[in-house]
Amino acid sequence: MTQPLAFIVLIVAVGICEISYARVMDRPRWIQCQSNSECTPGYCCTIGKQKFSIPQCKLMHDIGDVCRPDGSITLNTTLMYPDGSQIELTEVHDMFCPCGYGLSCDRRDAVCRDPSQERGFNHLPGEAITEDD
Ligand SMILES: *[C@@H]1O[C@H](CO)[C@@H](O)[C@H](O)[C@H]1NC(C)=O
Repeated sequence: MTQPLAFIVLIVAVGICEISYARVMDRPRWIQCQSNSECTPGYCCTIGKQKFSIPQCKLMHDIGDVCRPDGSITLNTTLMYPDGSQIELTEVHDMFCPCGYGLSCDRRDAVCRDPSQERGFNHLPGEAITEDD
């Protein structure tokens, strides 16, 4: 009666060890993100060009920030690190985040703009927000 139980406990314990080991191999601590959804809202997952670059959550670009008029580049790729870990990335941005929500990249000036405030630059966001007098 106790022997089969001990056997099951052993199997379960080995299984748990294997799962946590696999998870550690799969995702070292220094990896911040493997996709944009892992970053807090307003941030995106980026990867640098250099070898062994580490994916990081970065702030989405705000109004007036430089952006790519030809659209943001996203990558699906697998990174390999010297320690043998392999990290799969899904739709991660190349170096920089795109413009934030509701903003678009101005083709001519290559800066993020709010299309709803397209008429000149007189009305900056925040100006309209004067809650109490
Ligand atoms: C990357 O993968 C996602 C989900 O698997 C897919 O929807 C998307 O089209 C892929 N993008 C590229 C650039 O291959």
